[in-house]
Amino acid sequence: MRDFSTDGIDFRSDTITQAVDGMRQAMANAAVGDDVLGDDPTVTELEQRVAKLCGKEAGLFVASGTMSNAIALKTHTQPGDEIVTWKESHIYVYEGGGYAALCGCSVALVDGNRGIMNPQDVKNAIRKTAGSQGHYPNGSLVCVENTSNRGGGTCYSQDTLDEIAKIAKENGCKSHIDGARIFNAVIKTGTSLSRMVRDYDSISICLSKGLGAPIGSVLVGSSEFISRAHKWRKMFGGGMRQAGHIAAAGLFALDNHVQRMAEDHKRARQIAELLNSHEHFSVDMETVESNMVYFSTNISASEVVEKFAQYGVKMFDLDPRRCRIVTHLHITDEDVENFAEIIKKI
Ligand SMILES: Cc1ncc(COP(=O)(O)O)c(C=O)c1O
Repeated sequence: MRDFSTDGIDFRSDTITQAVDGMRQAMANAAVGDDVLGDDPTVTELEQRVAKLCGKEAGLFVASGTMSNAIALKTHTQPGDEIVTWKESHIYVYEGGGYAALCGCSVALVDGNRGIMNPQDVKNAIRKTAGSQGHYPNGSLVCVENTSNRGGGTCYSQDTLDEIAKIAKENGCKSHIDGARIFNAVIKTGTSLSRMVRDYDSISICLSKGLGAPIGSVLVGSSEFISRAHKWRKMFGGGMRQAGHIAAAGLFALDNHVQRMAEDHKRARQIAELLNSHEHFSVDMETVESNMVYFSTNISASEVVEKFAQYGVKMFDLDPRRCRIVTHLHITDEDVENFAEIIKKI
């Protein structure tokens, strides 16, 4: 494993991780083919493995979480449809309005408690063209994010996930999980991935977040759904050739970086407690369920970022009074101990 300690403490995101030595070796040694021609064995292995873990028929390896969500939205909807999702979901806030530009869809935004939507609110947000004298768009897709990024890394309970999927189905909607960090939810809740996503039509899983791979996501669903998604991937320019070199990083991550996420969660909690006992900061401890700590500050958030940066600690400010810390593969117990000393100087 490379020594990342000289880089300071980088809490900006779990996306900043670099491939560890074993992962680099797996990438270099991967058996590859031309995946656009369908003969890259490592890509096929990764797609099948993630699909199986989810209890679904098929998978599609794509370049990013944003591309995976965009392909899922495009495959599930028709122009003029409406997508139901949490008001601060990644799909709505951070994907460049792809739902509108690429899919021609509107979004019905749902309130949530720390990112978790109430099933009844989801039901109330689904509008149908039929019976509206043509007034309404057609609500055709419900999207859930688990864990919820802007919710603070929070996890859905299984009951709520099941209830939302049921409501979607009863109302003629497909259901999609943005599972960029779904393995964090698996580790936190102890629920198997296949059980967690059982009732959903598609799931997008990122390899480049807590799993520590440099690139890639896998979209899973039925064979019929994935064959239609495959065409959209092509049209979005996402067909990749000897992609087995990067798919190998995903396979390595699934073998080596899932169980260890419990350490990220433990360290996030320790950091949250340190912040919460500081005069300038406060944390809603209920939100600290996985590898994220969103904290409020009574001084300017950009000033907080600057002050920590002076001690080699990097983090993001999200709004004038709120910052975010994320733990990941390169954050160690020693980093947490150092942070405990640094925070005293702020
Ligand atoms: C919840 C969630 N979904 C999707 C994405 C998109 O992933 P990418 O940055 O790989 O496009 C992210 C990125 O952080 C995310 O947090």
